[in-house]
Amino acid sequence: MNGLDPSSLCLVNSFSSSYFCVKFKLPAKDETRKPSPFKYGGKVIKSEAAVSPITSSSSRNNKDPYLHTLSRRRGLLFTATIPFLVGISESLDVNAAVTYQTLLEGLKKVVTKQKSAGLLRLVFHDAGTFDKSDNSGGMNGSIVYELDRPENAGLKKPVKVLEKAKSELDERDQVSWADMIAIAGAEAVSVCGGPVIPVQLGRVDSKVPDPEGKLPEESLDAFGLKQCFLGKGFSAQELVALSGAHTLGSKGFGNPVAFDNTYFKILLEKPWLSSAGMSNMVGLPSDRALPEDDECLRWIKIYADDQNTFFEDFKSAYTKLVNSGASWKTIRKS
Ligand code: HEM
Repeated sequence: MNGLDPSSLCLVNSFSSSYFCVKFKLPAKDETRKPSPFKYGGKVIKSEAAVSPITSSSSRNNKDPYLHTLSRRRGLLFTATIPFLVGISESLDVNAAVTYQTLLEGLKKVVTKQKSAGLLRLVFHDAGTFDKSDNSGGMNGSIVYELDRPENAGLKKPVKVLEKAKSELDERDQVSWADMIAIAGAEAVSVCGGPVIPVQLGRVDSKVPDPEGKLPEESLDAFGLKQCFLGKGFSAQELVALSGAHTLGSKGFGNPVAFDNTYFKILLEKPWLSSAGMSNMVGLPSDRALPEDDECLRWIKIYADDQNTFFEDFKSAYTKLVNSGASWKTIRKS
């Protein structure tokens, strides 16, 4: 069948519309890591490692109308192909499953404002290991094997928070850590007053830890941060938008449980330059580095001026983050 493995097909509910698209599952982490071109009907279809059907048209950098049309055409092409593909793969089970709604309900019981900062940080420490050059790391739940690494200090707590909800959900159907963490982070943002971010379900967990040393060190300057994020497929604008997550927590960017654009307003004030009170304690070196870079500064000003733009861009970048390096299984329509 032209090398087509029915078990590698999945149906993805886009949430924003009822149309289905097809995504090709990448090899599991402990198998070969390189996404191989996929042959179907005599044509080679490249698997998309880091970009989901939703995010490929949602990023600010991808607002090109041509790309949008292309992605819609691809959607239609795949939609038209679906009946044949589903015919091949009769084993797809679309009924007895934990749906997005039930997963969210389970998570809502444990995600509180106080726990939100830790949960959002957990997302970055799972997904942020992604390396585009060899397609390693990413949103694969491997963080549960990496909690003793120094950069993950303090993350046992948020994992514990999710464990209870996960074990209850697992009684109905196995939920991956990667999905739990991705959706918990989105819920954390929303609980704290940030945007509502729909997250695709169906990530498969890795069975092994990710390579070490992939997360950015807090001592990096803006150039180093931009390089690091570029290697994960993120632009400077996405680096700035994602860094806005530091508005949560206790690094001095306003209310520690309010997700808003205070982070950017404070970056422009540079309180760490003042000797007054505790103002020199504000921010990490990586936060302080951002306004020193012209490209980053441009985005900091935009987000400080307009919270809605920050929310929209955070939403796109977050969606891209939680799909980075993910491999996918069958998704059920909720
Ligand atoms: C740009 C590079 C980044 C660096 C160098 C960095 C580093 C750090 C460090 C050192 C902390 C303090 C941890 C502690 O208090 O012990 C922290 C906190 C945090 N980080 Fe990041 N981070 C980065 C990007 C991100 C991103 C992209 C996200 C999420 C999208 C994120 C989410 C958070 C959150 C929510 C906290 C507060 C955690 C809490 O107070 O419990 N970080 N980060």
